[in-house]
Amino acid sequence: MELAQDVGGKMAGGAAGARPRHVAIIMDGNGRWATERGWPRLVGHRRGAERVKQIARACPDLGVDWLTIYAFSTENWKRSTEEVLGLMKIFRRYIQHEAQGMAAEGVRLRFIGGRDRLDRKLQDLMASIEARTAGNTRLNLTVAINYGGRDELLRASNRLAARIAQGDVTEATQADLEACLDTAGHPDPDLVIRTSGETRTSNFLPWQAAYAEYEFTPTLWPDFTPEHLSRILDRFGLRDRRFGGA
Ligand code: IPE
Ligand code: IPE
Ligand code: MG
Repeated sequence: MELAQDVGGKMAGGAAGARPRHVAIIMDGNGRWATERGWPRLVGHRRGAERVKQIARACPDLGVDWLTIYAFSTENWKRSTEEVLGLMKIFRRYIQHEAQGMAAEGVRLRFIGGRDRLDRKLQDLMASIEARTAGNTRLNLTVAINYGGRDELLRASNRLAARIAQGDVTEATQADLEACLDTAGHPDPDLVIRTSGETRTSNFLPWQAAYAEYEFTPTLWPDFTPEHLSRILDRFGLRDRRFGGA
């Protein structure tokens, strides 16, 4: 298949029957999962973090070598201080506890999103695990924390403007803007999954997912298993991705 407008081969793998190489997930429904059981929302977030481990472990055998997950949006600061601080604590613990295992299992962990607003200790942990797993190739796991697509595009635009001002870029191309995104060097997601029954994208990867396929499932994130993922991946293979072609 010819993909004339395919920037840097980022849309490769579009043939019918293909497996998605890059899956992105909007992990939604932790709060409802807990509330349904009469438990605090943070219990749902803790259970959700456990699911991330399980899903990430299943990916390589399912043929997925890029997994990008939405953990905290630029809009999630609107939540109660208790919930926000609780989530930040979960992120810190997750990185601390999983670092060893991920390094050993060949996971390359990276983060996207604005870091300035995050606690210094969390920022340091993020940088150190990124460095520690930089040589791993079994799974590329990218976690979006304080991520918003509009925020990312604004930060990227400012970087690009600086490159233009310095004379490094003259007439900006799509590739020049992509090189300024948090996801520079990552392939575009082939498939975006959102759990919990909501059918919106909530500011997740608006540039990168421009040609992604979408799956919306009513399952709440803490109930989402590798079997659910596997079934969704099977359905993906039935899709005919045309990228605007005839
Ligand atoms: C997703 O679950 C996790 C985050 C957004 C941090 P929610 O916390 O949004 O769960 P619901 O949508 O309220 O059930
Ligand atoms: C999207 O979920 C963000 C994450 C999963 C981190 P939200 O629960 O914040 O999205 P809305 O508010 O329903 O759009
Ligand atoms: Mg939600």
